Amino acid sequence: MVINTQEISALLKQQIEEYQPDFDYTETGVVTYIGDGIARAQGLDNAMSGELLIFENGTIGMAQNLETADVGIIILGEFSNIREGSVVRRTGKIMEVPVGNALIGRVINPLGQPVDGLGEIRTSKTRPIEYPAPGVMQRKSVSEPLQTGLKAIDALVPIGRGQRELIIGDRQTGKTSVAIDAILNQKGQDMICIYVAIGQKESTVRSQVETLRQYGALDYTIVVTASASQPSPLLFLAPYAGVAMAEEFMYEGKHVLIVYDDLSKQAVAYRELSLLLRRPPGREAYPGDVFYLHSRLLERSAKVSDELGGGSITALPFIETQAGDISAYIATNVISITDGQIFLKDDLFNSGIRPAIDAGSSVSRVGGSAQIKAMKKVAGTLRIDLASYRELEAFTQFGSDLDAATQAKLNRGRRTVEVLKQPLHKPLPVEKQVLILYALTNGFLDSVPIDDVLSFEEELYSYFDLHYDALLEVIRTTKDLPDTNELNEAIQEFKDQSIFK
Ligand SMILES: Nc1ncnc2c1ncn2[C@@H]1O[C@H](COP(=O)(O)OP(=O)(O)OP(=O)(O)O)[C@@H](O)[C@H]1O
Ligand SMILES: [Mg+2]
Repeated sequence: MVINTQEISALLKQQIEEYQPDFDYTETGVVTYIGDGIARAQGLDNAMSGELLIFENGTIGMAQNLETADVGIIILGEFSNIREGSVVRRTGKIMEVPVGNALIGRVINPLGQPVDGLGEIRTSKTRPIEYPAPGVMQRKSVSEPLQTGLKAIDALVPIGRGQRELIIGDRQTGKTSVAIDAILNQKGQDMICIYVAIGQKESTVRSQVETLRQYGALDYTIVVTASASQPSPLLFLAPYAGVAMAEEFMYEGKHVLIVYDDLSKQAVAYRELSLLLRRPPGREAYPGDVFYLHSRLLERSAKVSDELGGGSITALPFIETQAGDISAYIATNVISITDGQIFLKDDLFNSGIRPAIDAGSSVSRVGGSAQIKAMKKVAGTLRIDLASYRELEAFTQFGSDLDAATQAKLNRGRRTVEVLKQPLHKPLPVEKQVLILYALTNGFLDSVPIDDVLSFEEELYSYFDLHYDALLEVIRTTKDLPDTNELNEAIQEFKDQSIFK
């Protein structure tokens, strides 16, 4: 056989011309740097911001810094066996989490994976964790109340569905308890609750889940947790994962209450990963976009218009302060984005006033319009009364001779403080709140000794449950006060037969 070299070279040429590489060379990159929870990789030229990437060992990452030479990646999971030189693959997808009814009653991590040992979560629906907030025309003003069951909140700083109310205070001032009680009170209120625990101890989260389970609140609650032992990228991601799950329900026309406990820890986690990604540090070493971190999150809470189903996301973000300093950087940022704040003070907490809400520095900028009529009538002047009582109290500490009017004001103030106290995990339905506040503002408690106010309250409720449920029913259904003569008579009748005469 004669070998024709020309024929062979022509064949080779043709082969080379027709050669089609069957892989996309831009789809993979090589890790060039690996640090605590972050990596850099070269070769991912087409990666999108926020794109999901997969490392050799199966761990997922998220593209963050897109630079000319390389891409900064946050690693969402185990990174101890990722090495320089490891391959990282693009997926072409933006980071998503599973959403839907299957998540209700579960404890999950920010990636949507169960951590409660109850098996796989069966849902095929997902949502991107970053999503634009509803625009101006897609929103509606807040008009329906969200009853927390806490007298001090529902009367003084009412919250409406779709509102964002900041809960701010030092450590151990009962912040988490306020949120847990508010969740407990949503039973039978057509609400889905999402509790996002960020940077908390596993044991704390565990006991909160147990509380929810014990009171039957887990039936309508999702717990998203990124505990203190998790790498900072997961702490940063947790609130976004939570709100993505909430949006799924909101756009179906349902109502959601979401609690971010707490955003200070998220900001710290974000600072950590930003510094590792070598973003320029700004004030208190936070990156320049730390305001955007929280604003884009909280803007996603809304009451959407009727065309979109009229659903809502009510957000209770938390901020932990140092020594009551609400003018710190992150605190002022979040105060400016939210529709009001509830300030919990440690001196009140330690003196036994629990929940330790400081009426003077707490406000609700929109919730008042969502209060029911009966509550508006009885609680109208409560805030101002309480503030003026505090002022008087400080002023009269030294004096002795007080005129009758001042004495009466002090008297009423002390009883108001007493009535607004509430034990843990005992949320109160709104009609009973109205009843006790009505009795207070109409002077029925003025003759009751301070130490007896609590038992007066409890006995009043049971007396009404037994004999005057019809009056409570009027408040429940009409949302307005019943005939005041009847109400006065009923309360007086209760007083006459009790030991509080
Ligand atoms: N209304 C209340 N009545 C009685 N005890 C309460 C009340 N609220 C909170 N506590 C108790 O105070 C303690 C601290 O409450 P909680 O954990 O809610 O505070 P926190 O501000 O979330 O704390 P941390 O800063 O550690 O997260 C808990 O032991 C809780 O049981
Ligand atoms: Mg807490």
